[in-house]
Amino acid sequence: MNRALPVITLDGPAGVGKTTLATRLAKKLHISRLDTGAMFRTLALKLGPGVEYLTEEELRRRCRGLTFSLENGELLCNGQPVGEEVRSEEVGILAARIATIPVVRDVLKAAQRAMGERFPLLAEGRDMGTVVFPDARFKFFLDATPEVRAKRRIDELERKGESVDLATLTNQIRRRDDLDRNRAAAPLRPADNALIVDTSCLDIDGVLSILLQHINETA
Ligand code: DC
Repeated sequence: MNRALPVITLDGPAGVGKTTLATRLAKKLHISRLDTGAMFRTLALKLGPGVEYLTEEELRRRCRGLTFSLENGELLCNGQPVGEEVRSEEVGILAARIATIPVVRDVLKAAQRAMGERFPLLAEGRDMGTVVFPDARFKFFLDATPEVRAKRRIDELERKGESVDLATLTNQIRRRDDLDRNRAAAPLRPADNALIVDTSCLDIDGVLSILLQHINETA
């Protein structure tokens, strides 16, 4: 793949803060953010449970019936904005399950690369630096312990007036880590040439300044 437009990849496990960071970094760099987790979540929600029992051909047909695009930086599915309904932890687990199916990954990889050919992108997900954009200009991999990630998520939910038990959330995060890291197709792992940042003891500003410093020093 010979990339004409710059792509920056940001990979890492569930709840590590990719979305917040990607939003801020993309804004600073004046490029579009592509939230590939939202693509898997949308497919999970629209296809529903049980897709793993469909034939490969039928699943490919259904996935291709859902077309993604970026319009003014907003992710659309079949022309409609992808909304908050995809953000629940239940949809996250369903997304992690369908993300183990190679046909689903193939269809989404093609859509993600097509967007990378149209716009300079900050692409966030699990396999952006390893599989989808192996020639990306900069690659980052964020990590933090499951406990730290669960605690951050609890704080975020509490700010929205929702409450979830810490043990339940930590278990959900571990379950998703297990699915994401141990699947055969495009498992979550850092690309060989990614900058790995352990965010456990850093706040968003701290991580952002590490990423920006790396970009400025190596640009
Ligand atoms: O980033 P997220 O939590 O919104 O992602 C939801 C799930 O989608 C995640 O657990 C695994 C899957 N996913 C993936 O397999 N590859 C990506 N590039 C992005 C997400």
